[in-house]
Amino acid sequence: MALVHSLLSCLLLALSVPLQLQAQTTTTHNITLGSNLNSAGPNISWLSPSGEFAFGFSPLNLNTSEFLLAIWFVNTADNTTAWYANGDKPAPLGSTLQFTSFGLSLKNSAGQELWSAGVNGAVYAGMLDTGNFVLYNSSRKPIWQSFENPSDTILPTQVLQPGSVLMSRLMATDYTSGRFILKVQDDGNLVFYTVALVSRYQYGAYWTSNTVGNGTKLVFNETGNIYFILKNNTRFNVTYGQLDVPSDFYQRATLDYDGVFRQYVHPKRTSTSERGGWDNDWTMVDLLPENICDGGITSTGSGFCGFNSYCKFSSNKSVDCECPPHYSFLDPNHKYKGCIPDFPPQSCKIDESDQFEFLSISNLDWPLADYE
Ligand SMILES: *[C@@H]1O[C@H](CO)[C@@H](O)[C@H](O)[C@H]1NC(C)=O
Ligand SMILES: *[C@@H]1O[C@H](CO)[C@@H](O)[C@H](O)[C@H]1NC(C)=O
Ligand SMILES: *[C@@H]1O[C@H](CO)[C@@H](O)[C@H](O)[C@H]1NC(C)=O
Ligand SMILES: *[C@@H]1O[C@H](CO)[C@@H](O)[C@H](O)[C@H]1NC(C)=O
Ligand SMILES: *[C@@H]1O[C@H](CO)[C@@H](O)[C@H](O)[C@H]1NC(C)=O
Ligand SMILES: *[C@@H]1O[C@H](CO)[C@@H](O)[C@H](O)[C@H]1NC(C)=O
Ligand SMILES: *[C@@H]1O[C@H](CO)[C@@H](O)[C@H](O)[C@H]1NC(C)=O
Ligand SMILES: *[C@@H]1O[C@H](CO)[C@@H](O)[C@H](O)[C@H]1NC(C)=O
Ligand SMILES: *[C@@H]1O[C@H](CO)[C@@H](O)[C@H](O)[C@H]1NC(C)=O
Ligand SMILES: *[C@@H]1O[C@H](CO)[C@@H](O)[C@H](O)[C@H]1NC(C)=O
Repeated sequence: MALVHSLLSCLLLALSVPLQLQAQTTTTHNITLGSNLNSAGPNISWLSPSGEFAFGFSPLNLNTSEFLLAIWFVNTADNTTAWYANGDKPAPLGSTLQFTSFGLSLKNSAGQELWSAGVNGAVYAGMLDTGNFVLYNSSRKPIWQSFENPSDTILPTQVLQPGSVLMSRLMATDYTSGRFILKVQDDGNLVFYTVALVSRYQYGAYWTSNTVGNGTKLVFNETGNIYFILKNNTRFNVTYGQLDVPSDFYQRATLDYDGVFRQYVHPKRTSTSERGGWDNDWTMVDLLPENICDGGITSTGSGFCGFNSYCKFSSNKSVDCECPPHYSFLDPNHKYKGCIPDFPPQSCKIDESDQFEFLSISNLDWPLADYE
């Protein structure tokens, strides 16, 4: 047995060495035409010059058979995602990203395209230290930028022009299209909407800046202020997390899967003494809307929580769904899908009036006639 065991160890060792060598990240100032990445290695990502951001293949929830084409914060504990391309179409092992003069193309190993960023005349590309991935033409002008094609997160120095949209992911670790969007509308309004999951039908707004005709663009500046610039050049504050020494922190603002836009900071230093009281993790510094459960939902659509359930906003600003008494979650892992009764439904065929009773629950409201 011992011999078999040690033989096995050798085999495992022999297998694991090349696997370790496979995952390479390369620091690149200029990514040249014809460069490519492969989720199976050898090159899986390109690092920004500072080494703080990477663009490339990121294993989806530590499952090394499925990948997200993403940009992530390299020095945070969980490599926090700042941008992603293919949330609805995870890339299997062996997928490639090709950079040609026509832009970026993500293909699986069978050659089927999963995602693309099409341009004409790209000459080189760069993963910048701001977290922006940029394709340039021969005049050295940006012709495609991840900052102009955001997913659910914005970063300092990023500006969202009219027509831009942020879309939440479905769950914290599920990057498929979620149920909330934030739009910088062409009409000058900044609006949050709920969307139906399957049909993608857009319900009414749950928050708006009320600046139709007057708004222009959304700015996240270096010192941690996020504001909407109005035509008369005044700033409409969206969230506010001003930092005295912004260079000591990573910053991001994300339309989270619960529909809340939250601004976060994460200290760059890892040693306790140098962090000045901050956790070595993301800390929320501001959010919008203030309380998504409290009247935030002003039109039909079930809000964060589904049928027969209610929304609860904790003092730590996290949102949760709960079932009324005698109801249970349809799917405890996806609480937003709502609750179902534990009892059989009423029937009009027989007189059951003595078998049902009304319960009163305090501090709870379904503000609209909401059975949607
Ligand atoms: C990147 O390539 C462009 C175009 O060839 C060149 O002008 C620029 O100097 C290069 N930058 C670096 C850092 O090599
Ligand atoms: C991987 O990156 C290195 C360094 O940039 C480069 O020399 C090599 O050709 C790349 N390999 C592939 C397969 O692209
Ligand atoms: C990883 O993803 C593959 C492909 O979707 C799936 O078949 C497999 O069950 C997943 N593994 C784990 C551990 O979740
Ligand atoms: C985080 O990203 C770096 C650089 O791409 C990589 O080497 C590392 O393995 C990643 N860590 C995790 C936990 O995924
Ligand atoms: C490069 O892009 C800029 C900005 O879009 C454009 O003005 C310029 O004409 C382009 N240059 C070439 C050579 O296409
Ligand atoms: C812009 O704002 C001004 C002042 O608040 C308001 O009077 C005006 O109606 C707004 N413009 C539009 C197009 O609504
Ligand atoms: C960011 O915006 C705030 C509020 O408008 C302003 O006080 C601050 O100076 C700005 N920071 C930079 C670097 O422009
Ligand atoms: C700028 O426009 C906004 C919205 O239209 C208005 O509320 C504000 O009073 C204006 N500010 C100035 C200084 O004109
Ligand atoms: C927006 O935030 C800036 C920076 O804190 C502050 O100076 C300004 O008064 C705020 N504007 C409004 C309208 O609250
Ligand atoms: C916030 O509080 C709720 C309930 O009190 C708890 O379940 C959740 O884990 C907390 N979240 C964070 C981020 O601390």
